[in-house]
Amino acid sequence: MKVGFVGLGNMAKAMIGGMLAKKIAEPENILGYAKTQVTRSTVKEKYGICILENNEKVAKESDILILAVKPQMFGDVIAQIKDSVSTGTLVISIAAGKTMAQIQEAFGKSLKLVRCMPNTPAMVGEGCSGVCRNELVSDEEMDRCMRLLGSFGVAQEVPEGMMDAVGGVSGSSPAFVFMFIEALADGAVRAGMPRKQAYQFAAQTVCGSAKLMLETGMHPGELKDMVCSPSGTTIEGVRILEEMGFRSAVMNAVGACVDKSKKM
Ligand SMILES: NC(=O)c1ccc[n+]([C@@H]2O[C@H](COP(=O)([O-])OP(=O)(O)OC[C@H]3O[C@@H](n4cnc5c(N)ncnc54)[C@H](OP(=O)(O)O)[C@@H]3O)[C@@H](O)[C@H]2O)c1
Repeated sequence: MKVGFVGLGNMAKAMIGGMLAKKIAEPENILGYAKTQVTRSTVKEKYGICILENNEKVAKESDILILAVKPQMFGDVIAQIKDSVSTGTLVISIAAGKTMAQIQEAFGKSLKLVRCMPNTPAMVGEGCSGVCRNELVSDEEMDRCMRLLGSFGVAQEVPEGMMDAVGGVSGSSPAFVFMFIEALADGAVRAGMPRKQAYQFAAQTVCGSAKLMLETGMHPGELKDMVCSPSGTTIEGVRILEEMGFRSAVMNAVGACVDKSKKM
């Protein structure tokens, strides 16, 4: 099975890294092309995959073709490759906001289509991807896709109508988490901690808290309450976050991502 990548940026590299680490595909069975020579050479050197002459060649030779360019590039790239993609090829799009109907229309023919919304923690094998498919993708083909997309983190099948929500809660939210980590660390620096150490404490706490919730299956509210002793220090911080509209700001940020995704 040949897996091809059109675009070899951050997400494609994360996916390739996961596929190689989990031995989903050998480097010689992964094909790719990117716009610039520098990206093509760097990716070839790092992962040992086959770089082909152009997008059309990648499209023609792949059994599974992953479209990993920015949504703004989709029209141009699909126009370039549409005649090279056969109806037997399974096409996976990772573009934010591009629906399967829009992709199908751009190709101008019925194709086996899968949409996946990954996120950047995939770069360290800890991604979270929402995945949906059209009616032409069989259960067996979807199993193969889920193994591939699960090689760089957790992958769950969702209805296509939920993909905008996936984009908000996991695709975009690493940016919010990094802002939170920066802010936590700034608070510690303000209290006298050296900056490097503050980032380590903040990041490890976010990582450990997420792990605690996932591994115990406990409700986040219960875990929050466990930290808040009566008349203690933590409840004072919680009061300030509530006063400053922390939860509502986060909910509105996710909502803004969902709205933008619907308009793309
Ligand atoms: N980053 C995220 O957090 C995230 C999360 C979920 C989904 N996504 C989706 O993933 C997709 C890729 O995002 P990314 O963050 O990986 O972007 P990126 O790092 O900017 O990578 C885009 C890649 O596309 C290549 N490219 C541009 N024009 C091309 C063309 N005409 N032919 C072939 N390759 C071309 C670029 O080549 P050069 O390197 O040579 O310029 C680059 O390798 C987007 O659709 C995005 O919506 C991203």
